[in-house]
Amino acid sequence: MRIADVKEDIDHELVSKAQIDSKIREIAAQVSEDYRGKNPLLVAVLKGAVNTLVEFSQAVSIPVQIDFMSLSSYGSGTVSSGQVTVRQDLSADVRGRHILIVEDIIDSGRTLAWLVDELKRRGAASVEVFALLSKPSRREVEVDVKYAGYEIPDEFVVGFGLDYDERYRNLDSIAVLKPSVYQGE
Ligand code: PRP
Repeated sequence: MRIADVKEDIDHELVSKAQIDSKIREIAAQVSEDYRGKNPLLVAVLKGAVNTLVEFSQAVSIPVQIDFMSLSSYGSGTVSSGQVTVRQDLSADVRGRHILIVEDIIDSGRTLAWLVDELKRRGAASVEVFALLSKPSRREVEVDVKYAGYEIPDEFVVGFGLDYDERYRNLDSIAVLKPSVYQGE
């Protein structure tokens, strides 16, 4: 789905498909160099990171394995409750593995901070982070992001995995939603 298909809901495009593709290719090249011979496990946090994981895993030039985890740090609204719960756990044993967490966005940083600690606690050999987007102004917990994509302002963004109320995840670029959509007409 493209912006033109939902143009009545979108204020403006923030990161184009070409920019997403180019950033993912750039980071994939770096990761391929850094992890050669290490058989890394890419851990994607559902659901938002799925688009990034699919494109990124195809762009790397080394063999990788993939796994998924479903976490929740939010209540029903858009404000983080600060508590992380596991909805669905990994199927892989991470002991001794080199883990690269793949995230669509870092907001408060609470989800990632928790996950990095948890994977280290489970005995991973190393844990690094690739996040396509980051909202630095929203950070409450510092997280070391080795592979960082685009820094964006604190606006309500959707697309390329990011949703509002489960909508717009299949938009092929990242866009700012019109406030009327989430404030009610
Ligand atoms: C989003 C995003 C991260 C997290 C970041 O997921 O995908 O996992 O929030 O927020 P934080 O830095 O404040 O912890 P969300 O809980 O919205 O679930 P989703 O990926 O299924 O949309």
